[in-house]
Amino acid sequence: MASGRGLLLALSLALCAVSAFGRAPSWDGKIVMPTKEEEDQGEQGTRWAILIAGSAGYWNYRHQADVCHAYQILKRGGLKDENIIVFMYDDIAHNSENPYPGKIINKPDGPDVYEGVPKDYTGEDVTVSNFYAAILGDKDAIKGGSGKVVDSGPNDHIFIYYTDHGGPGVLGMPTSPNLYADDLIDTLKKKAAAGTYKELVIYLEACESGSIFEGLLPEGLNIYVTTASNAEESSWGTYCPGMYPPPPPEYETCLGDLYSVAWMEDTENENLKRETLEDQYVIVKSRTSNHNTYRTGSHVMQYGDIKIDVEELERYLGFDPANENVTKPELPEFLSSNSEILTHVPQREADLLHLRHKFQNSEKGSLREATAATELAKTILHRRHLDDSVKLIGEILFAGENSIEKLNAVRPPGTVVVDDWACLKTMVRNFEASCGPLTQYGMKHMRAFANICNARVDPSKMSVAASEACKYSPSAGLGLWSPVTSGFSA
Ligand SMILES: *[C@@H]1O[C@H](CO)[C@@H](O)[C@H](O)[C@H]1NC(C)=O
Repeated sequence: MASGRGLLLALSLALCAVSAFGRAPSWDGKIVMPTKEEEDQGEQGTRWAILIAGSAGYWNYRHQADVCHAYQILKRGGLKDENIIVFMYDDIAHNSENPYPGKIINKPDGPDVYEGVPKDYTGEDVTVSNFYAAILGDKDAIKGGSGKVVDSGPNDHIFIYYTDHGGPGVLGMPTSPNLYADDLIDTLKKKAAAGTYKELVIYLEACESGSIFEGLLPEGLNIYVTTASNAEESSWGTYCPGMYPPPPPEYETCLGDLYSVAWMEDTENENLKRETLEDQYVIVKSRTSNHNTYRTGSHVMQYGDIKIDVEELERYLGFDPANENVTKPELPEFLSSNSEILTHVPQREADLLHLRHKFQNSEKGSLREATAATELAKTILHRRHLDDSVKLIGEILFAGENSIEKLNAVRPPGTVVVDDWACLKTMVRNFEASCGPLTQYGMKHMRAFANICNARVDPSKMSVAASEACKYSPSAGLGLWSPVTSGFSA
């Protein structure tokens, strides 16, 4: 049966090739299999997607929930599993903290989004090098996982969606090393040079996510990007405990991220043959900025070939026939009523929020309560350690002259965060050698390291300053509570 269908497909493709290119049919009785190039000449091309959650840990529930949800949307849109590549640590569905084992939701009272999600790259296989190899279609460079890559041709459309923590110039990964913006841009340029896509769209959620493309992504690569935030602000978790709208009380963690949920819930309520990338950008921008108030919200940005935004979303996300008659999207109730102010949590505060709720909701005197209290105390202490050491390093390197201003200075919009990326990577390595892993929270200090590089301070001076600053730090050697204490160096 399967081979019969395959034959039929080969036949019809061969016929397409004949009619489209006027190639003389061969009458020797053999079926002419279309070459890969000929298949790709099909007007529509194939839709490919890479979905990647950069975190692990129950306090980061929302990132993997976002990615699972995105998979369900693409699946309903008609994309095939062979064309959707999923990267997620996969420690949420069966986490001991999950009130509904085996299930993941992405909105209060929402459906399970975990079922059926392909486990292409999980656990230690969620690496930045596998991510790049998947983009480039470089099967040989893949280590572990399913081996699935974007094996695309010149007429294909590619959608990449990433969600996690970030910082100026970096994105988190659940394994070491993290992703640096210059390497991602190089990978995209290589992909463009290979000519193996028609257009590529990236949706990116992370703190300071604009800094990944600001001043770095050139026009002309046929790449269109939107990010959850500009280069100098947080992105936000949503459906968080104690916020509005809250998750069901048994969840002590945020269920989604604001920008991510905004694009996905919009997609589910629209006819994607009509809605354009621009239409969605406007809607997502409004929701992510809390309707332009920027009270617990961020600036959604566009980068790259913005002119692509006149295209319909169907080209990337497919089309769900259930939405064929939708004319005006139905907004979730809490979005249309102004009765309560919507509240969200800066991504970097979401783990503290989780621990506080875990602590408060635990039985008094229980081991769970004690664990939550210890984790909370350690986390706060470790944050102080990172903040204090970076501040002290600044004072040492800049001899106390406006060092705080120098560390925090933000370059004008459109400017790249650092001139010398090799310097930035070395600075981080040298910092970590004396002060311990920078961690998810510490990514906020990437701007300080970038500014130290931009001031042309030699990385060896950073080594000396870091060892001085962290020599007597009481918490430098503290074990972190996170099971994934991924280092940061490249
Ligand atoms: C859309 O409308 C047409 C015409 O009324 C109808 O035949 C079709 O079933 C509708 N589709 C859906 C998904 O409701």
